[in-house]
Amino acid sequence: EKGGYPHFMLKEIYEQPKTLLDCIRGRINVEGNNIVLSGVIDNRDKFVRASRIIIVACGTSWHAALIGEYLIEDWCRIPVEVEYASEFRYRNPVIHADDVVIAISQSGETADTLAAVELAKSKGAFIYGICNVIGSSIARATHSGSYIHVGPEIGVASTKAFTGQVTVLSMLALTIAKEKGSIPHKKYEEKVQALKNIPALLTEVLKQSDKIKELSKIFTYAHNFIYLGRGYNYPAALEGALKLKEISYIHAEGYPAAEMKHGPIALIDTEMPVVVIATADRIYEKTISNIQEIKARKGKIIAIVTEGDTVVKDIADVCIEVPKTIEEFEPIVSSIPLQLLAYFIAVNKGRDVDQPRNLAKSVTVE
Ligand code: M6R
Repeated sequence: EKGGYPHFMLKEIYEQPKTLLDCIRGRINVEGNNIVLSGVIDNRDKFVRASRIIIVACGTSWHAALIGEYLIEDWCRIPVEVEYASEFRYRNPVIHADDVVIAISQSGETADTLAAVELAKSKGAFIYGICNVIGSSIARATHSGSYIHVGPEIGVASTKAFTGQVTVLSMLALTIAKEKGSIPHKKYEEKVQALKNIPALLTEVLKQSDKIKELSKIFTYAHNFIYLGRGYNYPAALEGALKLKEISYIHAEGYPAAEMKHGPIALIDTEMPVVVIATADRIYEKTISNIQEIKARKGKIIAIVTEGDTVVKDIADVCIEVPKTIEEFEPIVSSIPLQLLAYFIAVNKGRDVDQPRNLAKSVTVE
C-alpha cells in the first residue's frame, strides 16, 4: 500500500503533482481561464459582503492559513485574521455575524479547531470548512466548504494536505476576487493559468530529490536549523521547520527573514545551517541582503532558488533550484524541497518517519 516507497511520507510527497491535479480538476476549465469553487459561489453574498475573514487552524493547517491571509488580502481586499484554534476558543474573541470564519483541517477531527468552529457558530458567523477527510466532524459542523481532495494522508507529517490546502485557498481567493471585481480580469486569468501549471512544476521540482538526498548527509548531525523566507515564502519557512522538528527531532525555527536582526541572528555560527527560500520575486534583493548577513557570521546557507539564479548561487553553500512561478504560488513549489530535506535527514538518522514519537495523526484531545 506504500506503492513501492519505503515510507508513506515519501509516497505522499511524490503524489503531489497528481493530488493537486485532483484538487484543481472540476474547478478549473480546460482553457485555464476560469475557476469556480462551488461552495463559494453557493454562498457568494456571504463572501462578497464579509467585513472580515477569520481563519482558524492548528499546525501545518495554520501555516496554510497564513498563506491564505496573504492571498485573500492581496486579491480580495478583505481583512483577514489567522488564529491558532486553541487560542481563539479560549480568549473571548470578537466575532460578528458578518464575519466569515474559515476552518482548515486535514483530518477534520482536531479538537481545538472543532471547538473554534462551534464557538464562532454560536456567535452567528458563517463557517466555511477546508478539510480533506470526507464527512469528518469539522466538515459536518461547518455551514459549507470545499474538500481538498488529495486522498488519504497516512504519514503523521502533513505534506500533500498542505499543498492541497494552499491550492484550495488560492481557488477560494480567486473566486471571491472575480465576484467582487477586486482583481483586473487579465491578472485573474494569469493567476488561473499559473495555478493550472503548478502540478507540472511539481513534477519538475521532484527531480531534485537525488540531489537533496545527497546534501542531506552534510546536515544530518546539526543540532539546530533556522528557516527563513519573506512574503508568501515566510509561512513556507515555518512549515519547513515544523517538518524537520517532527520527524528528525532536530530543533528548528522558522522566521520571516527580516526578523533575523531582531534576535535570532545571535544564534548564527559555523554550526548553524540556515535554510533560506530566496526565489526570484519582488523581495529577492531583500532576501539576498539577509543571506549576506548570515554569511558574514559564518552560517551555512542552504538556499532554495529559482532556476537560472546566479547571485545567490555565489554566496550560498548549497542551492536547490525550483522552477519559476508567480510569487503567490511560490510556497507550493518551495515547500517540496523542504519536505524532502526533512524526510532524508530523518531517514539518515534512522527515525520512524511515518510515526514520529509523541505525535498522533489527528489531535482529538486538547
Ligand atoms: O488534521 P489537522 O489539519 O487539523 O491537523 C492539524 C495539526 O495537528 C497537523 O497539521 C500537525 O501539525 C501535523 N503533524 C503537521 O505535520
